[in-house]
Amino acid sequence: MRLREPHPPDGPSMSGLVRDCPPLDANSTYIYLLLAEHFPETCILAEDAEGLSGLVTGYLPPGRPDTLFVWQVAVAARVRGQGLGRRMLHALLGRAALSRVRYIETTVGPGNRASRRMFAGLARGLGAAATETSLFDAGLFEATDHGAEPLLRIGPFERPVVHAAASHVC
Ligand SMILES: CC(C)(COP(=O)(O)OP(=O)(O)OC[C@H]1O[C@@H](n2cnc3c(N)ncnc32)[C@H](O)[C@@H]1OP(=O)(O)O)[C@@H](O)C(=O)NCCC(=O)NCCS
Repeated sequence: MRLREPHPPDGPSMSGLVRDCPPLDANSTYIYLLLAEHFPETCILAEDAEGLSGLVTGYLPPGRPDTLFVWQVAVAARVRGQGLGRRMLHALLGRAALSRVRYIETTVGPGNRASRRMFAGLARGLGAAATETSLFDAGLFEATDHGAEPLLRIGPFERPVVHAAASHVC
C-alpha cells in the first residue's frame, strides 16, 4: 500500500471512490480537482495493485494552523477493517507541512459506527481527549435524509512519530 499526496489527475478516481463509500455525500469531480490542486498537503491517497483504495481529504481552517479539519475519509470495501483509515490519518499528521497541528476536527454522523471507532482509536493512540459539540443541524441540508453533522474535536496531542522511510511517500 502506497500513501501519497493527490494530484489533479487523481480527481476522477477520488470522486469515484467517494461515490462507492456511502454514507459519504457524493460530490462533483470538480471539488476533488480543487482539493488536489490547492490542498494536496492536507489530503492523502492510498493505492494498491488494484488502484485507489483509500483517501482522506482535509484542510487547515483559515487562521487556525494548529487544527486539521478532516472532511472525508473513504476506504474501499475490499480493504476495510485493516487499519488503513487510521494509518492515513497518522501519515497526514506526520507531514512536515502539518508540524503545527495539535487538533483534529471532523464531523461524524451519530450512526456511523466504523467512523466513530476509527476516530476514537486515533484519539486513544494519540493520548488525546475527544469532545463532541453540535455543528450543522440536519435542517441545514437540502436532502431530507441527511442527518445532523456534530463536530468531533480531538486534541491537543503531540505529533505521532513517522519513520523517515515512510514519510517521503506520504
Ligand atoms: C469509516 C472507514 C473510513 C473506516 O476505514 P477502515 O480502514 O476500515 O478503518 P480501520 O480499519 O482503521 O478501523 C477503525 C475502527 O473501526 C472498526 N470498524 C471497522 N468497520 C466497522 C463496522 N462496519 N462497524 C463497526 N466498527 C467498524 C474497526 O474495528 C476499528 O475499531 P477498533 O480499532 O476499535 O477495533 C470505512 O469504513 C469507510 O470508508 N466507510 C464509508 C465512508 C465513511 O463512513 N467515512 C467516514 C466518514 S468521514
